[in-house]
Amino acid sequence: MLISEVPAFREYWYPIGYSGDIADEPTPFKIFGEEYVAWRGGSGAVHAARDECPHRHARLSQGWLADGCLTCPYHGWKFGEDGHCVEIPAADPELPIPPRAHVDKILAAERYGLVWVCVGMPRAGIPDLVEADDPGYTLIHEMMDVWTASAPRIVDNALDVSHVAWVHRNSVGSSANPRLEAGPVERDGQTFRFSVTLISQVNEQQKRNTGITADTTRRTTHAELVQPLVFRGRMVYEENGLEHVLYKTCTPIDDEHTLFCQFIARNDDPPPEKWDSITAVDRQVQAEDRALLENVNPNFPVEISTELHTKADRMTLEYRRILAELAAEAPGVAPDSAWAKPFRRDPVRDAPVPSGATSDGDA
Ligand code: FES
Ligand SMILES: [Fe+2]
Repeated sequence: MLISEVPAFREYWYPIGYSGDIADEPTPFKIFGEEYVAWRGGSGAVHAARDECPHRHARLSQGWLADGCLTCPYHGWKFGEDGHCVEIPAADPELPIPPRAHVDKILAAERYGLVWVCVGMPRAGIPDLVEADDPGYTLIHEMMDVWTASAPRIVDNALDVSHVAWVHRNSVGSSANPRLEAGPVERDGQTFRFSVTLISQVNEQQKRNTGITADTTRRTTHAELVQPLVFRGRMVYEENGLEHVLYKTCTPIDDEHTLFCQFIARNDDPPPEKWDSITAVDRQVQAEDRALLENVNPNFPVEISTELHTKADRMTLEYRRILAELAAEAPGVAPDSAWAKPFRRDPVRDAPVPSGATSDGDA
């Protein structure tokens, strides 16, 4: 299953950049393989629309903002915040502006310091992330990068707890302690939760970040699939009660590229001078995941028998069931047999692409 085969994915909100990225000029971004433009109107609100002028199809992102309006670079038509054209410079001002002269807007809004869009009719709101809204926690933006990996593969990895001891053996994982203590998977509609405890390695930087002095510690993650492409993981360090809550969102740029965004909430009120060090550890962990996931087939299985599953895989098995339900809503999802064979990246075809979204990387 590829993202483009399942229209249900289009009915959720996804971040396309930081609020500060959408400022003084129209900004292009790509989602679901389609080109859009985001801009900030005269009221200060963010807007987004197809990156194409209704007049002669120029790219609106090559234009500019004037008098609070999105201005097309070709013939200077101006579009107001509701998307309708308010001025055609070459036309007789006495004549009415044709009602069809409007840009093709999509939903856009801001929350948690991010600009979110929804290209379809949303079946859910921008996710409510409890700690991110709680003044008792500190919200820190850690990363927003384009990965050459499919969005479901990245979320699947976040829900996959038995990889930590191996993929992260050089950072927070402990390959000497691969066993997990995991509770039941509690399904609720198309979301689920579970808790898992593992032994985590604590390197010198993590000792400074967490206040933990031992070389290993017991860490419990209360994890939740919030939406099909949004993960929340409240990591609690048993030794001192520190909570490090991870939020991961995956914006599908296309079937094989994802704008991966991660931000955290901490309950220890870390001073700003410590944020870089906290972020550095999470960036290393994500770089370890990324190196692996960029070499995994972007197709995602929707048939349970395609892969092998063990008891330790029951969280990611539940994720497969949920995505299979979304896929079942659509006709035309190719059977796993159409693609489930050894996958190798083509170094030419899959050369790194420049960011298709608004951010060029770091928070
Ligand atoms: S193409 Fe945009 S104003 Fe003509
Ligand atoms: Fe990981």
